[in-house]
Amino acid sequence: MSLSDARGVPTSATSPESLALFETAMRQFQSYRGDAVATIDRALAGDPDFVTGHIFRAEMHTMLWERSVLPEVEAELESLGALAGGATERERAHIAAIADWAAGDWDGMGARLDRILADEPRDALALQVGHLSDFFRGERDNLRGRVARALPAWTQEDPGYGFVLGMASFGLEECGDYGAAEDAARQAIALEPDDCWAQHGLCHVMEMQARQEEGIAFMEGRQAHWAQDDNGFAFHNWWHVALLNLDNDRFDRVLEIYDAAIRPGQSEIQLEMLDAAALLWRLHLRGIDSGGRYEALAATYEAQAAEHGFYAFNDMHAAMAYVATGREKAAAALEQAAAAAAEGAGSNARMTREVGLPIVRAVRAFGAGRHGEAVDLLLPVRYRAQVFGGSHAQRDIVHRTLIEAAIRDGRHGLAQALVNERIALKPDCPFSRSLADRAGEDGI
Ligand SMILES: [Fe+2]
Repeated sequence: MSLSDARGVPTSATSPESLALFETAMRQFQSYRGDAVATIDRALAGDPDFVTGHIFRAEMHTMLWERSVLPEVEAELESLGALAGGATERERAHIAAIADWAAGDWDGMGARLDRILADEPRDALALQVGHLSDFFRGERDNLRGRVARALPAWTQEDPGYGFVLGMASFGLEECGDYGAAEDAARQAIALEPDDCWAQHGLCHVMEMQARQEEGIAFMEGRQAHWAQDDNGFAFHNWWHVALLNLDNDRFDRVLEIYDAAIRPGQSEIQLEMLDAAALLWRLHLRGIDSGGRYEALAATYEAQAAEHGFYAFNDMHAAMAYVATGREKAAAALEQAAAAAAEGAGSNARMTREVGLPIVRAVRAFGAGRHGEAVDLLLPVRYRAQVFGGSHAQRDIVHRTLIEAAIRDGRHGLAQALVNERIALKPDCPFSRSLADRAGEDGI
């Protein structure tokens, strides 16, 4: 007899043990703790035909959003192809969504997960994978909308309800509804104290509102709930703590966090590398020496050159690492890979054409001292940069690079105008005020 999951969603599973392990893996995914794939592997070892298990495993791999996972995803699709006859309609829609992702149709994946959720809003996996796919694709309105559409079907008694509120918080924050985002995050944390995504959502609110000291205290004071040794998202939350310190000119603390928690090893995961690259580029723009850190990171990017041209957001960060370390040849090869990607088909081709390639070219121009060219490339795309994914806080690097290029190019009027805009958005940010001093100086 087919069984339903803990939220009452029908599945084709017949083994209660397999579904129990799926629930454990789901909670690991929701809390970013432990190894969810290892848990689902245990279920699949005893139940190789467990469709939900294969779907979970494939979707976990897609969530790294890099080329290296394609063989694993394709292997899972092959297994699922053989099992699809016994799958439910919802499970078959998941399989089609995974196939879309593997074919480079990331927007197709997001849309299919939305259609699943319209019929089954309590499909926790579709909701979280869909939410993260919205993040990777810069679907800001759907980060809020997808969760809002599903939330009324959930009750506080449902396992994982608090995590849904955590997702709601991030979507509201990205849409600029900071008050509602903060309320949702605080409610989520009250229900699930270890909800590191809700912690992250509220940290974003504090970043956007330039509540630096409060943000640092909020993050550091709750480390026990988000920075555990087995927390796979801790590197990114620490990145946010570093950002809050950076805007208060605490550069030693920024580097201390980088070494201890953002890049403690030589991770080859693009998602982790990009936060490292983004932080070092912010220091680079401010003329702060980060020692040999950028060299080590750029070397890892070079070793991962097969990723270039797969995802425009990763390409921008690789370009920064290359430019900051004088890797002209690697930067040229990266631009070539991005240009080829832009000519292709699929979601990344669109992202790269619209914003990724101009930004890679701008970063290279900036590195070569052609600041005017960097300005001209960045000005038309800066308001559209959400197309290649990431958060406002992450994409702020585009605005920072533009302002720095305008200052260095001696375009005082433009630099002042852009700084005025920044101060209007974040009047209390000490970094914005320091930019105002520089933009107004003569002979920059
Ligand atoms: Fe973030």
